[in-house]
Amino acid sequence: MGKIALLTSGGDSPGMNAAIRAVVRMGLYRRFTVTGIKRGYAGLIDGDFVPLEIHSVAGIIQRGGTLLKTARSEAFQTETGFAAAVRNLRQLQAEVLVVIGGDGSMAGAAELAKAGLRTVVIPATIDNDMPGTEYALGFDTALNTVLEAVNKIRDTACSHDRVAVVEVMGRRSGHIALMAGLASGAEAILLPEKSVDMDDVCRGLERSYRRGKLYSIVMVAEGAGKGYEVAQEIASRTHFNPHVTVLGYIQRGGSPSARDNIMASRMGAMAVDAIAAGRVNTLIAAQNGKLCTIPLTEAFACRRGIDVSLHELAAILAL
Ligand code: F6P
Repeated sequence: MGKIALLTSGGDSPGMNAAIRAVVRMGLYRRFTVTGIKRGYAGLIDGDFVPLEIHSVAGIIQRGGTLLKTARSEAFQTETGFAAAVRNLRQLQAEVLVVIGGDGSMAGAAELAKAGLRTVVIPATIDNDMPGTEYALGFDTALNTVLEAVNKIRDTACSHDRVAVVEVMGRRSGHIALMAGLASGAEAILLPEKSVDMDDVCRGLERSYRRGKLYSIVMVAEGAGKGYEVAQEIASRTHFNPHVTVLGYIQRGGSPSARDNIMASRMGAMAVDAIAAGRVNTLIAAQNGKLCTIPLTEAFACRRGIDVSLHELAAILAL
């Protein structure tokens, strides 16, 4: 069999190491050789390659982050940088490039496919906002990180009868805020996918207060607003003096959850099997509870929004 090149790209996410491990070990099992590319597309442009053997991926499954490092490469977006990436990949004589990353990384893989190279994408971003797949590696671990943090914040909000505003990541999507808000019983969840009416949010907080719920959690997706600005809006409309926690980059780290490591192991193995079967220029996708390979061109056409019914459910259950 031939050579598989492998890189991680974009924002890191828990589960990337398990996916690297699965591609390397299943690839070697299927008689491929595997070459790692450090720092995503930036390393592809620089020719920053490392051979990967069975022992290279020992002891990494429990670690967040990525053994191969990652980057957001502006150079890859330029004609010169892209040409260098194509040249290096051709010189490497890789049968295929496996890209573990989010929607921007998948777009890069699609561009390489248009240039005549062969790619397979494993979805990995805590935002879980990738087209074509219901799941991207890192989302479950990030949710549990947010849930653990909100439970701690709820303790102090309860002790002081205060409103707590919690800002979470997600870039332009609200998947983290919605699912972590439902999981943590947040009294209000602000999403980029739904217009935010601060008067309505404040009326809800005051209604809860009058009913005896003297503290509340307001979950804010970063794409819907800044936590500090939401707190000021609440303070200007009500008697509340909310405190603010911006969770930031802890959402990107941590030892992967069982779900992320199991999904990563299955997706990495499926990527190698897809390569062996010639199903390249594909995304390893989770659809309707199963894993499948879909052409990259089809993936981009399947944009997923949030499940608005879950936003309504969270509001009812937090009354
Ligand atoms: O895409 C993952 C993500 O963590 C987003 O949720 C967040 O907005 C972004 O990356 C932060 O980007 P950077 O790591 O470049 O600061």
